Amino acid sequence: IRRKTISDIYNIYHKKEPITVLTAHDFITGKFADLAKTDIVLVGDSLGMVSLGYPSTNELPFEEFLYHVKSVSRGVRQSFLIADLPFGTYETSIEKAVESSIQLVKNGANAVKLEGGVEYLDTIKKLSSIGIPVVGHIGLTPQRHNSLGGFKAQGKNVNNALEIFKNALCLQKTGAKLLLLECIPQKLAKYITENVSIPTIGIGAGNHTSAQVIVQSDLLGMHGVNSLPKFVKPYENFLEKGVSAIKKYNHDVKTRAYPETGIHTFTIKNSVYLDFL
Ligand code: KIV
Ligand code: NA
Repeated sequence: IRRKTISDIYNIYHKKEPITVLTAHDFITGKFADLAKTDIVLVGDSLGMVSLGYPSTNELPFEEFLYHVKSVSRGVRQSFLIADLPFGTYETSIEKAVESSIQLVKNGANAVKLEGGVEYLDTIKKLSSIGIPVVGHIGLTPQRHNSLGGFKAQGKNVNNALEIFKNALCLQKTGAKLLLLECIPQKLAKYITENVSIPTIGIGAGNHTSAQVIVQSDLLGMHGVNSLPKFVKPYENFLEKGVSAIKKYNHDVKTRAYPETGIHTFTIKNSVYLDFL
């Protein structure tokens, strides 16, 4: 078994077959996604919120993120692995972006993703030139939630839609290998996808993008299924199933129903010498 490469991803794209992308935040969720033969696994900085409980992705320290990238990487054998560049690890200079990206690659990433467009032209060129594929992320960019006024769908008026489209063209021209579109109207995502020659990855962007991505904890209902974003289809309710299983365990321990003698227990050999047992 080997990991998919960027060429494998482009082969799927050229066959016009939808590409599957799923986030993972540790060894076990990396393994889930990998065993399901997901084409691409993304270690998204959303793990700061969904797995570590930070109020937004901006508070996530890079050392903590790297620890998670490393752990996901150990669980991923066949998927292409993308890691986010978290807030504060790439904005200030090209050098900073290169150093951060090298750390992500050293910890197992096959590509890096950054939020933004035209403002990172030189950064993307540099990263591409040293052999690190870059994924651009436009539309709703959660690292900018402070200036966007929250986590809201983007591109809903013509000017904003045009700006997103321009950024998409610029990212492609600059050498971005993949283009993530978050929370934009389906029509805009379709238009972008039809007018670029790199695969688009949609989340809350409708059904016409080259790939779909979802946060694994949303897909599996790890926090339940009641307060999920509109675009999420939960395929499981891990919260309910997990809590209910743990309640059964707690009950069995309280009533001494678990562990059961003879099933979950070890016996001792030659107990004739230990007849006091
Ligand atoms: O951080 C993340 O999980 C992401 C995806 C939601 C696109 O960037
Ligand atoms: Na992210």
